[in-house]
Amino acid sequence: MHDVQPQKSYATFGLARSIRQLKHVWESRRQIDTDMPTLLGLVQESEQRIQRQLGRKVEQLQMLEIGPGQGLERARYFGRKNTVTGMDLDVIPVGFDMSSYLHMLQENGPGRVVKSIGRRMLIGEAHDTAWASLLGVETFNNPKLIHGNICGETPNVGPFDVVMSWSVFEHLPNPRQAVENVLKLLKPGGVFYISLHLYTSNNGHHDIRAFTGDEDSLPLWGHLRPSTEEMFAPSAYLNQWRLSQWRQLFAEMAPDHQEILEAFESYERFAPRMTPQLRDELAEYADEELYTINVVYTGRKPIA
Ligand SMILES: C[S@@+](CC[C@H](N)C(=O)[O-])C[C@H]1O[C@@H](n2cnc3c(N)ncnc32)[C@H](O)[C@@H]1O
Repeated sequence: MHDVQPQKSYATFGLARSIRQLKHVWESRRQIDTDMPTLLGLVQESEQRIQRQLGRKVEQLQMLEIGPGQGLERARYFGRKNTVTGMDLDVIPVGFDMSSYLHMLQENGPGRVVKSIGRRMLIGEAHDTAWASLLGVETFNNPKLIHGNICGETPNVGPFDVVMSWSVFEHLPNPRQAVENVLKLLKPGGVFYISLHLYTSNNGHHDIRAFTGDEDSLPLWGHLRPSTEEMFAPSAYLNQWRLSQWRQLFAEMAPDHQEILEAFESYERFAPRMTPQLRDELAEYADEELYTINVVYTGRKPIA
């Protein structure tokens, strides 16, 4: 595992790994009709939480999404009623835009280009069509995309009413710098909404097998156990932060924040397989660290 995030891209792209991922992308096209409505439900839930923090509807706002990734689902969802900017370490091409792919080649390397073009060709159109239909739009209001590092110098954009992010902060080498930037990028009274995938969850290791249909064949919490940790290879840089570290960071930087633990169905799935011997091996981890999948931190920047 790297100690610092690779400069060009947060993910790693060996040939075997890329082929496995593209094969899974191809197979997942059959699930678009169930996956996309599930995602819509999750995005709507996030919107309601942001709305509660703001005390008003999420409309006519300046919003920044950190690390929107290739799918742009959330940025396009919020883009219907707001002005959205997306900032990502990777170059994000929209459609088949050759100049973006050349820029991506320079900035993120050939592995990233192959994966992006592959994904675009295999399911890009079906994915976009399904999302547009669910959102009830014919064309998307795409975000303004900027290429940048949230752990670097504060980007010269904003200020924003909302800064939001999903599945990015677990990949950052310097979460403190990132939260500092988030607070600087917000208007006074603005809301942050940061959802992260917890390292100590069963698939927090980001081994590609867990995201391509084989999670149940891997040893439970195997990356946390000395007897099995060698079997795992993360597909992206991970800071490996524990729940206590996130809690400490947000307690210091935004004392009035709210924490939401999302376990989804992991108690039902994994608790029946937790033997006394396994619990002993994982003795240093509390249940909430093992069964929580995502942690959300949300709050407001003080007005004065
Ligand atoms: C796991 S993907 C999540 C994509 C999307 N948010 C989602 O939930 O589907 C992580 C994204 O964060 C971006 N990222 C990683 N490190 C970053 C950094 N330091 N600054 C900005 N973006 C970063 C990656 O390029 C990638 O697009």
